[in-house]
Amino acid sequence: MNKILVWDPLVRILHWILAVLVIANFLNEDGEFYHRWIGYTATAIVVVRIVWGFVGTKHARFSDWFPTPARVIEYTRLKLKGQAPRYIGHNPLGAVMMLLLIVLVLNQGLTGFMMGTDQFFGEKWLEEWHEIASNLILVAIGLHVLGAIFESIKTRENLPFAMIHGKKRPHGHR
Ligand code: HEM
Ligand code: HEM
Repeated sequence: MNKILVWDPLVRILHWILAVLVIANFLNEDGEFYHRWIGYTATAIVVVRIVWGFVGTKHARFSDWFPTPARVIEYTRLKLKGQAPRYIGHNPLGAVMMLLLIVLVLNQGLTGFMMGTDQFFGEKWLEEWHEIASNLILVAIGLHVLGAIFESIKTRENLPFAMIHGKKRPHGHR
């Protein structure tokens, strides 16, 4: 069976650099030079990914996987019955998590930037927002990784590996 290319090289490269940078910022939470630049680079990666979501290859596009409420409800319903179809791109529940991670990283960049402006410098609520949202990122990453492992076992396809080489089984091969 010939596998087909699902994740183009840009999607894969951006994903793993983003993962490394986000984790790096938890090991280096002082808000100083490296933290700021790692955080802004992560934010920039997400911005590039959003642009790629409009102009990129088929499965990179939001139009391929945007989790509309109707899609999420239908997928969850079938999932609970054990009848969810296989998606070659992101499934609707995975896609909700992808959007959440994107928004959370953008939020870190924005609140981090605001902390350094004259207007908001020293504002406790802003620092707390940045901190609480970073905890949410940790929870989201945990669920994201568990979801990827769970789905890999269910579909008998190594999804983290597919995020490395980009290829998946074609439709119709279980
Ligand atoms: C993926 C991106 C980011 C993550 C995951 C992240 C995460 C964190 C975490 C966990 C802390 C420690 C919070 C605490 O316990 O007080 C922190 C603090 C801080 N971050 Fe970020 N951050 C990110 C991006 C940024 C950016 C882009 C900036 C600004 C340029 C920034 C500026 C700061 C500052 C100034 C602090 C210290 C705040 C304080 O004094 O409490 N961060 N960040
Ligand atoms: C640590 C921070 C991480 C962040 C912020 C993150 C974020 C994302 C995002 C935004 C996507 C969508 C990819 C795209 O369409 O471009 C994605 C997909 C994916 N991520 Fe992560 N990720 C992280 C870590 C990980 C780790 C450690 C794994 C390994 C288990 C992983 C496995 C995957 C897989 C398998 C997909 C594709 C899911 C599918 O097949 O539909 N991610 N991730």
